[in-house]
Amino acid sequence: MCNPIGSASLGEVHGAVRALLESNQVSYQGHRYTRPAPSTYEQQWLWDSCFHALIYCHFDLSMAKDELSSLLYHRGVDMGGMVPHMIYWAGGGEALWGQPYASTITQPPMIASAALKVYEVSQDRTFLQTNYELIREYYEWLGRERDPDHDHLVSIIHPWESGWDASPRWDSQMGLSNPTDFEAREARVHLAQAINSIGCDIQRVLQDGVFCVEPIDFNAIYAANLAALSQIASTLDRPSDAARYDVLANATKDAVRLKMWDDRNGTFWDLAGVDETPIRVPTCAAFVTLYAGIPTLTQAERLLAQMRTRFSAPYPIPTVAVGDPLFSATRYWRGNTWLNVNWFIHKGLQLYGFADLAAELASRCQALVEKSGFREYYDPFTGDGLGSLLHSWSGIVLDMIEK
Ligand code: GLC
Repeated sequence: MCNPIGSASLGEVHGAVRALLESNQVSYQGHRYTRPAPSTYEQQWLWDSCFHALIYCHFDLSMAKDELSSLLYHRGVDMGGMVPHMIYWAGGGEALWGQPYASTITQPPMIASAALKVYEVSQDRTFLQTNYELIREYYEWLGRERDPDHDHLVSIIHPWESGWDASPRWDSQMGLSNPTDFEAREARVHLAQAINSIGCDIQRVLQDGVFCVEPIDFNAIYAANLAALSQIASTLDRPSDAARYDVLANATKDAVRLKMWDDRNGTFWDLAGVDETPIRVPTCAAFVTLYAGIPTLTQAERLLAQMRTRFSAPYPIPTVAVGDPLFSATRYWRGNTWLNVNWFIHKGLQLYGFADLAAELASRCQALVEKSGFREYYDPFTGDGLGSLLHSWSGIVLDMIEK
């Protein structure tokens, strides 16, 4: 079996990542951000910008701060605290969202952890102070608006909010069965218009039986970020906020562990709708729980057993278990390997002390970019690059290999 490992020097990877991000930078009226991919994805995306900030921490702290500050700049659009999943700096959002400059839905809430990392590297307290209220309001918004059953698990109301746009995880909730890529995309656009017409109000969404899911990874990221927010509050000498977000972080971790775990199958499942029906589609989203320190050691071992068997591939980690009927190596989000998803799993493996596995994963991610460049996603068997070219977040490989 081929066992691809990265062989370029750290300096070479560092240089290539830096060149990638610098070539994708743009500036609007003094606000700088990095396009996810030139020509394919020109707008600013929430979780992309958080990954970009983490990458910039390795070579350009000023840009790392700008990337997050531009994300938090609402240009006067009142979102009640929400940070939109897309910002259209040059306008153009009207057709989908009824407003020009921003979408009306969100994306994986990585801002607190990205801001904390930028602070840890830069020691710039003013940066934290300036952005603290906006960051805090975002997590307050998530807890207030997206947890209608008050179980500390937040819900998404559109697959785009998960960041895993076309994953088979969402098919049943989208009323789709084995859709073509075109059908699935049409359904997503239709849903965006439908939820926008009811103000993206979760009570209406539930009432109308529209898409509403508590995802595993979104909640793991939410929990880890509440913990990061607590640390930010401590740094800024706000002990009551620090205590509040620590309690909330633990409540979400407990809820994922208690409500999403399936002991028979040894994995976590997304929960759909008011009934919280488990979505039994085996994806590597379950492994993202490691990033937040959610699984017990026994649960972690069981997840690892799956990682080594059902999710084994020369260029891991496939987003869907390879033997599953819904798996496809090449179809968007339906089985391919994504470096940004791998980053969470890599961090999680390190957190649990599985250092060798983490190093091996990092090396295989490096092998992917050496073979196929910085692509949006990759075929887990051949390592061929798929989706957009020069995709910025694939530069996150640098964070996996550089200390
Ligand atoms: C795709 C991905 C989404 C990402 C965006 C920009 O739509 O599914 O997660 O944020 O591209 O990279």
